[in-house]
Amino acid sequence: MDESIEKAARAVLDSNLTLALTGAGISVESGIPDFRSKGGLWDRYDPDEYASIYSFQSNPEKVWQMLREMEETVDKARPNAAHIGLAELEAMGLLKSVITQNVDNLHQEGGSKDVIEYHGNSRSLTCLWCNRRYDYAQKKGEYPPYCECGRILKPDVVFFGEAIPMAAMTRSYELASSCQALLIIGTSAVVSPFNVLPRQAKQVGATIIEINLERTVLTDHITDILLLGKATEMVSGLVAAVRELKSL
Ligand code: OAD
Repeated sequence: MDESIEKAARAVLDSNLTLALTGAGISVESGIPDFRSKGGLWDRYDPDEYASIYSFQSNPEKVWQMLREMEETVDKARPNAAHIGLAELEAMGLLKSVITQNVDNLHQEGGSKDVIEYHGNSRSLTCLWCNRRYDYAQKKGEYPPYCECGRILKPDVVFFGEAIPMAAMTRSYELASSCQALLIIGTSAVVSPFNVLPRQAKQVGATIIEINLERTVLTDHITDILLLGKATEMVSGLVAAVRELKSL
């Protein structure tokens, strides 16, 4: 058994409350590009022009060009071994919640029950003018989708300049303040306030286990155990190690 994976598995087994924080990197192997890697979404679309609530309000048709591409990619994606591995840890009683920045629903499709969607989700749409809400299925294939009041709808994902959903923010902070082990998977951890959560967990003494293809801003100061590699391979390895140590 790899030494770092064994250390990580022991930390999970010794912990009374373990959380997973995830970002776009966990869904890359499901075919959804991340944001900041080469070829990622922000390489092709300037986030100032496409991802702020002000750009949506002033030119929703333009922002929907990017959203259409995202939706078509997400529609084809299926959960991978990393999403499924986290669901297995939850089913074994070893993972309390997944707190994700992703809006692709792949944790839920992979079997996770307790998923906190920190940046909202793309399963529903809201009219910013009259507040009517629609399920994604009602508007599927309409680009851009219109409200019955005649305005263009916005998906319930958090744009830059919008608030984090209050319940998600409060519960995430409470959990991070009481966890004993934290898995942080496939995120550059540069977006605030999400990146407060690993720092909070560290402050209360949790063991921080980072899984990423590369080192991040967390690696030197926050991370205790770094599992450098693909999310699918590292999460599967961790789950296998947990099962093995548990059976001893
Ligand atoms: P980023 O694109 O910033 O970071 C993705 C991270 O995943 C990088 O650190 C990659 O090295 C890593 N990665 C890529 N492929 C991987 C793989 N197969 N296995 C393991 N790691 C891999 O994405 P996020 O951190 O999720 O917010 O970005 C955070 C937020 O910025 C998003 O939620 C979105 C974006 O702007 C909003 O739109 C509000």
